[in-house]
Amino acid sequence: MLSNMSEASIPTIKIIDAKNYVGQTVKIGVWLRQKRGSGKIAFLQLRDGTAFFQGVVVKANVSPEVFETAKELKQETSMYVTGEIHADDRSSFGYEMAVQDIQVIGESHDYPITPKEHGTEFLFDERHLYLRHLKPFATLRIRNTLIAATYEFFNNEGFIKLDAPLLTGSAPEGTTDLFETDYFDHQAYLSQTGQLYAEAGAMAFGKVFTFGPAFRAEKSKTRRHLTEFWMIEPEMAFMHQDESLELQERYVAFLIEKVLERNDQELDILKRDKELLRSYTKLPFPRVSYDDAIKLLQDNDFDVKWGVDFGSPEETFLANHFSKPVFITNFPKAIKAFYMKRDPKRDDIVISADLLAPEGYGEIIGGSERDTDYDYLKSRIEEQGLSMDDYGWYLDLRKYGSVPHSGFGLGLERMVTFVTGEDHIREAIPFPRMTHRLRP
Ligand code: 4AD
Repeated sequence: MLSNMSEASIPTIKIIDAKNYVGQTVKIGVWLRQKRGSGKIAFLQLRDGTAFFQGVVVKANVSPEVFETAKELKQETSMYVTGEIHADDRSSFGYEMAVQDIQVIGESHDYPITPKEHGTEFLFDERHLYLRHLKPFATLRIRNTLIAATYEFFNNEGFIKLDAPLLTGSAPEGTTDLFETDYFDHQAYLSQTGQLYAEAGAMAFGKVFTFGPAFRAEKSKTRRHLTEFWMIEPEMAFMHQDESLELQERYVAFLIEKVLERNDQELDILKRDKELLRSYTKLPFPRVSYDDAIKLLQDNDFDVKWGVDFGSPEETFLANHFSKPVFITNFPKAIKAFYMKRDPKRDDIVISADLLAPEGYGEIIGGSERDTDYDYLKSRIEEQGLSMDDYGWYLDLRKYGSVPHSGFGLGLERMVTFVTGEDHIREAIPFPRMTHRLRP
């Protein structure tokens, strides 16, 4: 029951803005996370999608109906709560509500995710509900910052966003992990990368980025692989690899800075070490050639030979060795995609770089300068058994005013796991797709 105040004059606010309303009566649309209390007081743990806080219902201060309603509330019931905001030094949020009125909107019975510990598979079977909980809340809000900051960064740098198709006839990253689908009387593939289209865009607009889902039928079950992930792929005309690496490190530092600026609450929920994150914004990132990386690994008892691709233990060792994101440059040609530019001094390597995140988060960026030689690319396409029907248009880019150009792809979910400190990539996307997971 509300004293001396008409309903209409009570502002409806969000929890996150509670600090601006201390001492005032406000109304907030919330869901109930948990409840505890006694016969005289009920503590309601509430959330509204912007933050989490506590509503306190004191029997002596409210009508018997309101206290009865509070006592009967079930987990995930939705409601409007009305009451006065107080500063509350005991909670990490800092504010709570002295609840005076409760208006139930949607009841909830037998909510399956209870406060007890649940197994991960169960939580992901219930992902449509699990999204409401603390860890997904914090992780996916940080994901959102990374998305917004990506647009800010590339807009500031004079890029335009170019949308690449998702149904394609080509397999630029190799034919082993393609998702095929019927396309009328043809075969089509779900896109592995927007890069080839970004290259066409770079020749039209100078600097472009694509940002969309990429599909890879990765059979390997690892903590770092999804079958559907989101990738940001900038492509720059008149740009060599050195300048591209500088752009990449500025971009990664910008993303981390924006998360530190905007997601204090979320980083606290996830217990992510902010000073450690801040240390990753100091540029430049070290650059180590593949040759030197192999020597370093061999000197540290790794059983690796020149020519192999790195696995997760090698990547973790290398990045931890430098305590920072590190570029591994100039990989063997044989283990990289057909479009990468050959090193003019050595035919067996390509001008490429992977950016490895520290703390075991793996490769977050893969990129290269692109080869511009029509005949060489044609032979590489043929060598890999790819069809000229599908790649003729791509070769046109080398025929009509070809220029040096470079680009890269940042895996959004890899970046999310790195920034949030999550140990599995499934946490980094609202509805993960993996070999064994297509629902919900
Ligand atoms: O190194 P990748 O395969 O590079 C490309 O696709 C290029 N076309 C990029 C370019 O030059 N435009 O993938 C780029 C990044 C990886 O560094 C990783 O972060 C992420 O995409 N990635 C994955 N993320 C989640 N699940 C998977 N299965 C991934 N495969 C790659």
